[in-house]
Amino acid sequence: MQIADVQDEIDHELVSKAQIEGKIKEVAAQVSKDYAGKDLLLVAVLKGAVNTLAAFSQALSINVQMDFMSLSSYGEGFESSGKITVRQDLSCDVKGRNILIVEDIIDSGYTLDWLVRELKGRGAASVEVFALLEKPSRREVEVPLKYKGYEVPDEFVVGFGLDYKEHFRNLDSIAVLKPSVYEGAAA
Ligand code: IMP
Ligand code: MG
Repeated sequence: MQIADVQDEIDHELVSKAQIEGKIKEVAAQVSKDYAGKDLLLVAVLKGAVNTLAAFSQALSINVQMDFMSLSSYGEGFESSGKITVRQDLSCDVKGRNILIVEDIIDSGYTLDWLVRELKGRGAASVEVFALLEKPSRREVEVPLKYKGYEVPDEFVVGFGLDYKEHFRNLDSIAVLKPSVYEGAAA
């Protein structure tokens, strides 16, 4: 889906499809170098990171494994609660593995801070993070972000995996919604 298909609900585009693809390729080249000859497990946080994981994993030139975890910190509102619940756990044992967490966005940092500590606690050999987007102005917890994409302002964004009430995940770029879409909605 493109912005033109939902233009009544989109205010403006923040990161284009071409920019996203370019950045993902750049990061994939670096990661392929850094992990050459090593075992690597990509861990994606469902559902938002799925689009990034798909594009990123295909752009790698090394053979990796992938696993998924579903975490919830937001409910249906805008603010991260800080309280993380595991909706669906990994299907593999991470003991001794090199892990690269793939995330859509770091906002407060609560989700990733929890996940990094959790995976280390399970005995992972190393845990690094790639987030396609970050909102630096909103950070409440410091997260070691080794690989990053684009910084975005403190606005609620959708597209390329990111949703508003489960919609707009299949938009091929990153965009800001018109306030009319969420006006009156409970935070
Ligand atoms: P954090 O725990 O506050 O860092 O929030 C991380 C999670 O909240 C991300 O993985 C997203 O799923 C979601 N999130 C944060 N900001 C946005 C946004 O602007 N649009 C959509 N989802 C967001
Ligand atoms: Mg997410």
